[in-house]
Amino acid sequence: MKFVCSKCEHKVDISTREPKCQCGGLWKLDYKPPKFDLNKIDKDTWGIFRYRRFMALEGDEWESITLGEGMTPIVKFDEDLLLKMDYFMPTLSYKDRGAAVLMAHCKAIGVDSVVQDSSGNAGNSVAAYSAKGGIECEIFVPEGTSPKKIDMIKAHGAQVNVVPGSRDHCADVCRAKVDSEGKYYANHVYNPFFYEGTKTYIYEIYEQLHRIPENIFVPVGNGTLFIGIVKGLEELLESGVIDIMPQIIAIQSENCPPIYEAALKGEKQPVKVQVQPTLAEGISIGVPMRGEEILEYIYKYNIEVITAPEDKILDARLELARKGIYCEHTTAANYAAYLKYCEINGRKKDSIIPMTGAGLKSDH
Ligand SMILES: Cc1ncc(COP(=O)(O)O)c(C=O)c1O
Ligand SMILES: [Zn+2]
Repeated sequence: MKFVCSKCEHKVDISTREPKCQCGGLWKLDYKPPKFDLNKIDKDTWGIFRYRRFMALEGDEWESITLGEGMTPIVKFDEDLLLKMDYFMPTLSYKDRGAAVLMAHCKAIGVDSVVQDSSGNAGNSVAAYSAKGGIECEIFVPEGTSPKKIDMIKAHGAQVNVVPGSRDHCADVCRAKVDSEGKYYANHVYNPFFYEGTKTYIYEIYEQLHRIPENIFVPVGNGTLFIGIVKGLEELLESGVIDIMPQIIAIQSENCPPIYEAALKGEKQPVKVQVQPTLAEGISIGVPMRGEEILEYIYKYNIEVITAPEDKILDARLELARKGIYCEHTTAANYAAYLKYCEINGRKKDSIIPMTGAGLKSDH
């Protein structure tokens, strides 16, 4: 199997340790799964690897890496809205879908030490799966990251570096280390294997409901769930399992909206924005590295982009909690954005929102 550069189409074997192409382009995976078919799911595997016949996986390393991630419930919240409970996960966020596949890949190619930067959750995930696989791990997080997330990363035995400044600066510091020390960059944005995991979000919805809801809401910081969702839906379309692309509605933080601003203006690149503090720390990404790819999908599939009202996040979190759902602030932002969308456009029937992170993670 090969990685192909998204800019110059240069191909390398997936065993490469290079985080990106020499031209600066990010890798994509040169892989086309067989047609999706519910009968080809391994029903005896209780996790995302039940879909492994449609995933780019080499060997059986996933068996030693998996922590039982995936198969998260879908809860009917009200007449119109379904919640996909994606914080029912080993490290309490949806990132486990991607990290499990990424770390299985690391194991398969013999990587014994990784670095990663994160707003917290992806770092939690990579640290946990590294621990499971006996792989050394170092995580960079920006200052202000929820202390609970930092505690979890440390508990998994990873080294944590708290970097002063913004989330984007934190990524720069980590990448400088990748460049200078040649460390393996187990990064959820750069590494295409991550999306092989996040696409199972769609497979699962289809297996659970036997259909895809009309409106798929998804948060977009770096877009790792977003890209997985689009990939998963494209695969279902190509397989003839669904006939039309559902309406995807991408959610950005009001205080950090580079994709939202770009989509408003029809730009191909994310707009440079002044990042303001936000409760939605998970989507506070000023410079999304796959921004161009995200915008291509937005134009191709008429995806709507909306923002989460900052002053409604706490109310949304409380409202969910009063109905038994205790999620983190970034996740409450999804619900706040959904409510705002309905206020402006009227009732949005048959919608689904991901509950991406658990509440205890952002209590501080
Ligand atoms: C709880 C939560 N929700 C949503 C996101 C957004 O994911 P992405 O940056 O891949 O778009 C994150 C990312 O860290 C997150 O932690
Ligand atoms: Zn290239």
